[in-house]
Amino acid sequence: MRIIPSIRDMQTWSENARRRRLSIGLVPTMGCLHEGHGSLVLRSVRDNDLTVASIFVNPLQFGPREDFGRYPRPFKRDARLLKQWRIDILFHPSPKEMFPDDFATTVSVKDLDKTLCGPRRPGHFNGVATVVAKLLTVVQPTRAYFGQKDYQQLKIIERLVKDLNLPVSVVGCPIVREQGGLARSSRNRYLTTPQKNNANQIFTALQEGRKLLRLRPYSPTSALNTVMKRLKHIPGARVEYLELVNAETLKPARAIRSRTLLACAVRLGSARLIDNIFIDPR
Ligand code: PAF
Repeated sequence: MRIIPSIRDMQTWSENARRRRLSIGLVPTMGCLHEGHGSLVLRSVRDNDLTVASIFVNPLQFGPREDFGRYPRPFKRDARLLKQWRIDILFHPSPKEMFPDDFATTVSVKDLDKTLCGPRRPGHFNGVATVVAKLLTVVQPTRAYFGQKDYQQLKIIERLVKDLNLPVSVVGCPIVREQGGLARSSRNRYLTTPQKNNANQIFTALQEGRKLLRLRPYSPTSALNTVMKRLKHIPGARVEYLELVNAETLKPARAIRSRTLLACAVRLGSARLIDNIFIDPR
């Protein structure tokens, strides 16, 4: 595994690989890797001739009161894991390399940020879209891999790739969970062991919601109320939102007519946890 910190060197490497007609998989990350990232890397290594993983804690996607400063950066451990997972290139640019002082461009995808995390994290998805557009143009991958835990992020990236005709296939991969059901996330590190045990109840509540929502005569409003009650009962939890949205448009859904997403954000201790579950019509 080779570590490349420079954009110019990354582009040269990709151009050489493409000239040799080798397919490139890209797994963009902010580091602090876990098994969720592992599943994306595994898929990329399986699907492509070469795999690039990037580690870049993107300042543009953190709000002023968010955890940019304390976001964990265990670089040596991450590099060791990526080597074990058999990637070819670790792209690890500095903040100045990605966003020099005169950087002036923002990529913004309309409408898909109107629900879920969008209103609660103003500017977050513009930051994500901007960095991902840049990573895709620098690395020029054949395929790029993203987890479905950040489902809204995945939909926004799919749209930006379509709208800008970027020559890459976006691959969404299933959520990887801890044994108790908690969705794997770098931010789980902020949880104490008792908080982690309590956090498992988020997935249990979503599963119950899915069951209720698929019972025909049951109204979505009462199903959501039941799930909301469950979430609020988790010790120490503050529910930021619980929403039912169309899985394609991310617009609020009032019934399960096509694939629908039940999604929530819950604050527990100093962690903000998101999770979601698909509900398909019967
Ligand atoms: O999902 C993440 O880790 C980040 O949002 C991403 C896609 C690497 C962009 O910074």
